[in-house]
Amino acid sequence: MTTPAYSPGLEGVIAGETAICTVEGGLSYRGYFVGDLAEHCSFDEVAYLLLYGELPTAARLTAFQARVAAARRLPPPLRDFLAALPKWTTPLDALRTVVSGLAHFDQDASDNSHDANVRKAERLLAQIPVAVADHYSLSRGTTPTLARQDLSHSANFLYMLRRTDPSPEEVKALDVSLILYAEHEFNASTFAARVIASTLSDLHSAVTGAIGALKGPLHGGANEKVVDILTAAGGTPEAAEGWVRGALARKERIMGFGHRVYKAGDVRADILKSYARKAAEAAGSVALEDTADAIERVMAAEKNMHPNLDWPAGRLYHAMKLEIPLYTPIFAMSRIAGWSAHVIEQLDNNRLIRPRALYKGPDRRPVKPIGERG
Ligand code: ACO
Repeated sequence: MTTPAYSPGLEGVIAGETAICTVEGGLSYRGYFVGDLAEHCSFDEVAYLLLYGELPTAARLTAFQARVAAARRLPPPLRDFLAALPKWTTPLDALRTVVSGLAHFDQDASDNSHDANVRKAERLLAQIPVAVADHYSLSRGTTPTLARQDLSHSANFLYMLRRTDPSPEEVKALDVSLILYAEHEFNASTFAARVIASTLSDLHSAVTGAIGALKGPLHGGANEKVVDILTAAGGTPEAAEGWVRGALARKERIMGFGHRVYKAGDVRADILKSYARKAAEAAGSVALEDTADAIERVMAAEKNMHPNLDWPAGRLYHAMKLEIPLYTPIFAMSRIAGWSAHVIEQLDNNRLIRPRALYKGPDRRPVKPIGERG
């Protein structure tokens, strides 16, 4: 047997085909550049695009939004379960468990047909923000806010957290961040979802695994580290320059910088940057934005390294006064559209994902009786 080529971390490996997204020539979803989607579309339209392959007509969007809005509730036992979780449970861990639990209440749970998977995907799209908002209320000892049927994905989420109507500017900023987070080819969490789906498992299992993969600070967890970095950096551009040089000298990773695929910069970070600054201006202080700019300059000069999407997203959510442990769950309430699209695509043309490993262990050896082992 010949040994196949090996690439640590599967770097540069083409691990499958997809019609959902490409990073070639600027990130695009189903042929549309993300910058154009962010400028001209709502997140709801982009979620429809990912799930159905085409942008919706006005009538199809209205029907899609009505179906999703109608599914914005958790089964009461899952809400009780959220209330019973230990108080140190993080929102992302709670979400991972709730998504697994939702399978028990979904009549299509084990139906892997295309249509059943689309129905389940729409329900998860509706339920994930509700789970995050309900856990947020319950962990504070307050009664969860009822979801609104008349609001978009972003507006309803902000309403459920705050119990007040968000401003159009906030809804647009959150929507743009969700559009940019919605899909990204074979990133770690999506690949994990496809691996799970490829065994002919089910959508809820794949999404549960994807949330587990998203959690780590090298992936979605990075957006929760951004404010820590800006705070540790001293809060002023002058202090930040010295801090980041010192951190690099200590070989520390600056979360929100670098990317496995984008070595010359992440277009998503460029798009979201202006929204982060506008939100900071609206909140009355651009100190963290100026600090972030100083860190960007040093990272470019010293390491030729550029921000990824998590860098402006963490700042935007902070300026919107959202609590830091919600940031990765917000990523999940967007990426559910991409994960679902990939699971559906995988199952529509499945081949088990089962690569090989390069063995580095001991040569074949005899098993010694237990009394002779050293
Ligand atoms: N800060 C400082 N140095 C870095 C950073 C960083 N953020 N990222 C990579 N490096 C350095 C590494 O230490 C390494 O240096 P060395 O060659 O001197 O050892 C070199 O750059 C190459 O790093 P790799 O880890 O091999 O690069 P890889 O392509 O595997 O990393 C990754 C990509 C994991 C995203 C990395 O850049 C990182 O850890 N970034 C911080 C975490 C982060 O922001 N993740 C979010 C990803 S985007 C998203 O999920 C939306």
